[in-house]
Amino acid sequence: MSDSEDEVRLEARLREQEYFRPPSKFVGQANVSDPAVYDRFGEFPDGFEEYADLLDWDDRWDKVLDASNPPFYGWFTGGTLNASYNCVDRHLDDRKNQTALLWEGEDGDQRNISYQDLYREVNEMAAALRSMGVEEDDVVTLHLPMVPALPVTMLACARIGAPHSVVFAGFSASALAERVNNAESDYVVTIDGYYRRGEFLDHVQKADAAMDETERDPEVLVWTRHDEPHDSVSVSDDYTMVADLLEEHRRERVDPVARDAEDPLFLMYTSGTTGKPKGCQHRTGGYLAYAAGTSKYVLDIEPEDTYWCAADIGWITGHSYIVYGPLALGTTSVMYEGAPDFPHKSRIWEIAEKYDVDVFHTSPTAVRQFMKWGPEYIEGYDFDFRHMTTVGEPIQPEAWLWYYKHIGDEDAVIVDTWWQTETGGHLITNLPALEDMKPGSAGLPAPGIEPALLDDDGEEIEPASGQAGNLIIKKPWPGMLQTVYGNDERFIETYWADFSDTDSDDWTDWNYKAGDGAVHERDGYFRILGRLDDVMNVAGHRLGTMELESAVAEVEDVAEAAVVSREHTEKGEVPDVYVILREGVEESDDVRQRIVGAVEDEIGKFARPANVVFVDDLPKTRSGKIMRRLLENISNDKELGDTTTLRDPDVPERIRDQMKAD
Ligand code: WTA
Repeated sequence: MSDSEDEVRLEARLREQEYFRPPSKFVGQANVSDPAVYDRFGEFPDGFEEYADLLDWDDRWDKVLDASNPPFYGWFTGGTLNASYNCVDRHLDDRKNQTALLWEGEDGDQRNISYQDLYREVNEMAAALRSMGVEEDDVVTLHLPMVPALPVTMLACARIGAPHSVVFAGFSASALAERVNNAESDYVVTIDGYYRRGEFLDHVQKADAAMDETERDPEVLVWTRHDEPHDSVSVSDDYTMVADLLEEHRRERVDPVARDAEDPLFLMYTSGTTGKPKGCQHRTGGYLAYAAGTSKYVLDIEPEDTYWCAADIGWITGHSYIVYGPLALGTTSVMYEGAPDFPHKSRIWEIAEKYDVDVFHTSPTAVRQFMKWGPEYIEGYDFDFRHMTTVGEPIQPEAWLWYYKHIGDEDAVIVDTWWQTETGGHLITNLPALEDMKPGSAGLPAPGIEPALLDDDGEEIEPASGQAGNLIIKKPWPGMLQTVYGNDERFIETYWADFSDTDSDDWTDWNYKAGDGAVHERDGYFRILGRLDDVMNVAGHRLGTMELESAVAEVEDVAEAAVVSREHTEKGEVPDVYVILREGVEESDDVRQRIVGAVEDEIGKFARPANVVFVDDLPKTRSGKIMRRLLENISNDKELGDTTTLRDPDVPERIRDQMKAD
């Protein structure tokens, strides 16, 4: 069949077929193939014990849920455990020689880290951290790329009860400094550099600049990508080389610290509606139980599997579904350092073939990219995924079908998992053996999860009525964030205040606001529409418009700026910046570059604006509020809508005309 005939057939299929059944050979082997799971988890909150029972506890919990002080819930209270022990030590009896982490460097380096190796490395690093003064409950900031040092350091922190705060390696020095300050962190762990598209990136320089910026004086520990620091990079004498510390602590053992189930395991900063990112604080017991449980039930992984979540550990997806979930289950988790198209566009499939990957997890952005490159880059590679998942953005039915056909060979099960940094793990997703797949739809709530849709007045929309509304979660779940680090008020304000009775101490009066819009279809499936707040999703990376605007405002020549999202075929969304320059400043490429540079410096290159538009005025209400919605319509070439509430109703048209003229 020719390519175009193929596409026509796919198109026809899309129109005709709404649901796809999981193949019976999948159902036969699945971890969960009995719908009674929903009834068991319907016993709230006790159903969640099923997840907690996947772990080894030092002391079993007294209470599954302590809801006496909503929304500050306690999960598995009275229980104690250690996450590092659960992800490493407890597997030694049965599978010490099994690979825990299969790492592929972009330059072709390869490491096969068995559970025994991981045990040794995590212990040595834990001893190294202790020798640097790290104590239980000290926050350790990790600014590391996709190298084994990252999971090793995370697990070493967990071993000694020091919460880690991993900052995505693509974040700039300023973003790192801001997170170090907010978390009051006295330890930063980084690396000399790493590979990206064939180039060795000097990474430690970001720590140098961050140290100049922060008001604190943290100890800086530096891993090296190779045995020795790379020639092209200079590492400050003020820093401590991890290799030296490890040498001093060779073969040392560090007993895992028994952590209270409610003790924090980590912080993960994420963007919201204000300029400052929030430190989502995750607890040890509930989080690990939820990550392990959903890895087993949703990702359907087993210890014998080779599982590849092609995300970055610097985001929540990597925390839950590269490190904590898969390792708690004792499986083999693949990590790849580099770009998917280096040195060629088949790199991902080459790795899948080489390691015989069984279960594959990626993002819609990546699928759209593969689609653009074309199926010829996949053909000829011999891999066979049993199960595939997506996360991070809505997946368009076309992209879903392409994924199903070209990567899944019309034979793999796909689940589209909806969740957030705050939720710790999947909340809306089909269980792969139980529900039919429906392209473009996240599906049913995960076991024990109770989502609902509210209208803007907070009234509940009739379930399964096909209408759209604000997505909320009515009952707490173990993976949920504990609070915003150091800021309980912001926690309540951001996630609860809008749709809860905040005076009530009855948990049923409290609803978690997701910030997303969704449709509850008549078949009971949820279709996620995207963010309703000022948060955009750029290639699966979550960015706040306010964060971008404050970066742009750093440029002296800028009087005022508004950032909105423009739809983008591959990245989903990209930021457009509308700028009013100060009196007397001329528009020029130089100013434009400084604006783009400011975003790169404040946040990171991945947040780079797509367009910088210079305007004379911004659409504002009479009270002076910028109507970003109108700018978004201009960016996306849509009808403007109502402009009558504007102070100057002609502003949007003028901007539109100007853009046409440019
Ligand atoms: C979006 C990523 C549609 C959503 C795990 C959410 C999705 C935000 C999906 C969280 C999905 C995540 N379908 N949209 N399957 N999964 N999102 O915190 O807008 O980086 O609020 O967590 O991504 O992004 P975050």
